Order: sequence, then C-alpha cells, then structure tokens
Amino acid sequence: MSSRIYFEKAILLDKKTSKEFGVFRFKMENIPQISRPGQFVMLKLNLHPYPLLARPFSIFHAEGRELSLFIKKVGVTTNGIFNLHAGESVFIYGPLGKGFPEALGDKVVLIGGGSGIAPLNFYAKRYGFKRFLVGFNTRIDDIFSLLPKNVEIYTEDGSYGRKGVPTDYVEDMEDFIFACGPLPMLQALKKKMANKMDRIYVSLESMMGCGTGLCAGCGVKKSVGEGYFRVCMDGPVFPFSRIEI
Ligand SMILES: Cc1cc2nc3c(=O)[nH]c(=O)nc-3n(C[C@H](O)[C@H](O)[C@H](O)COP(=O)(O)OP(=O)(O)OC[C@H]3O[C@@H](n4cnc5c(N)ncnc54)[C@H](O)[C@@H]3O)c2cc1C
Ligand code: FES
Repeated sequence: MSSRIYFEKAILLDKKTSKEFGVFRFKMENIPQISRPGQFVMLKLNLHPYPLLARPFSIFHAEGRELSLFIKKVGVTTNGIFNLHAGESVFIYGPLGKGFPEALGDKVVLIGGGSGIAPLNFYAKRYGFKRFLVGFNTRIDDIFSLLPKNVEIYTEDGSYGRKGVPTDYVEDMEDFIFACGPLPMLQALKKKMANKMDRIYVSLESMMGCGTGLCAGCGVKKSVGEGYFRVCMDGPVFPFSRIEI
C-alpha cells in the first residue's frame, strides 16, 4: 500500500458515457500525483449516511491533478456517478492497494474484460505493452477512442472489432500476462495457462467494505497454506499462482 492515503474532494471535469460504461475525469489535489497502475480508490458520492460505504474503483488514468475512472453502471453509487454533471463533486480516498509489477513494458500482454480494462489502461499508458486485448459484450463507441492505439478489441456479439473473447486469442508463450475482468474470464485464463501461473498477475474486483484492511470483508483464499489474503491490503493485484479462484 502507498505510504500516504489522502481523503479529497474530487470535482468532475467531464464524462464520456455509453449506456453501460463511462469514463469520468476528476480534478483533485494529491491522489493522482502518487497513484501507480493497479492501485484503486474508494469513492463516496456525498457525506450523507446513504449510501453508507464508499465503493472501490481502479484508476483508469492519473496525471498531474487529474484522475479518470472507467465505470460500469450496476447499482446505487455507479448510477449516482453517471448522473453527475461537470463541476459537481464526490469524495475519494486513496490511492490504495499494491499495483502491478512495474516497467515490464513490452514483455507484458494485458487482458481486460468489461470494467477490468481500467487498471490495465493505466499500466499501458505509463509503461507500454506487447499486446493489449479488451473484451466487451457489445460495442461502446465513444469510449474505445480513449484506449491506447493498437489495442485489440473483441466483442461477443461481433458488433465491433473481432468476434469472440480475448482469452481465445492469447498464446501460452507470453512472457507476462496481467489480467482483470469477470471471474469466468479469469477462470478461462487459468485453464488455458495452467503451466504459466507464476507469470500471470490478476487484479481482483471483489466486494469491499472499507478498502483499508479494517473490516475483513474482502478475503480471497490462499492457494498455498491456510487462510485468506485481504484483497484491499495484500492486492488487489496477485500472482495468479498464489490465490484460489
Ligand atoms: C479493487 C477493485 C477495483 C474495482 N474497479 C472497478 C472499476 O474500475 N470500474 C468498475 O466499474 N467497477 C470496479 N470495481 C467494482 C465496483 O467496486 C462495483 O461495481 C461497485 O462497488 C458497485 O457499487 P454500486 O453502489 O453501484 O452497486 P451496489 O448498489 O452496491 O450493487 C449493485 C449490484 O452490483 C453487485 N456488486 C457490487 N459490488 C460488486 C463487485 N465488487 N463485484 C461484482 N458485483 C458487485 C451487487 O451484488 C449488486 O448486485 C472494482 C472493485 C474492486 C474491489
Ligand atoms: S475491504 Fe475492509 S478489510 Fe478489505
């Protein structure tokens, strides 16, 4: 975890949304300047008791005083974020968690599904990549243009890019793989790359309460030895060989 955690008011600069996904660019004082790819922030819509808990989101991009999030609309907080207008504010604390191993650049294949593309985009923009494969159910027009050039886009319905899912198009000879996405995507990767698990790092999007190690609400089973890791403190990025999913 980063040595400093800030709690800051974040002002929405602009947003680009499709029906289900959106990219939201916020301005704030400190968090963007110390954030690293693979870390996340906790976002609370307001200081009222409802919704009580802040929600975790990976950092999609951070530079200077700006931080962007890539968000899938699923419930109370994410709907609230979609309804924000430029100039309105939310509260964010972070950066939290351990990020990806740094600066492997062109040795890394990045594989993201849905909202899981967020931490990989930050890595890609900061360190580069060998291949970057992203998968969605269907096209999300405006948002594809925010991803790095040369990204490979796959849609399950074939409405954009290649038809299919990214895990079908990855070879088992890659040096390193960083992946983030829905559980079935990670399980498909595990099945295909069983003998490469020590070179695959996954970022987990588990349910979380506090994001800071206090509530024990984010456990993932260790693959070796007894017990659980806390995704917020020990992750969210883990060598795939060390966790049981
Ligand atoms: C480290 C981390 C990074 C994440 N990064 C992103 C990101 O970059 N972009 C993004 O869109 N989402 C991300 N998520 C998931 C995000 O935190 C949840 O989608 C969010 O908390 C939902 O909040 P809500 O109030 O809108 O939904 P709620 O109203 O609380 O719930 C709506 C529905 O979503 C389900 N749900 C809630 N949280 C999760 C979850 N973590 N996983 C699966 N289902 C869930 C609930 O069971 C319920 O069915 C991340 C999660 C973690 C732990
Ligand atoms: S979310 Fe509270 S301990 Fe991890």
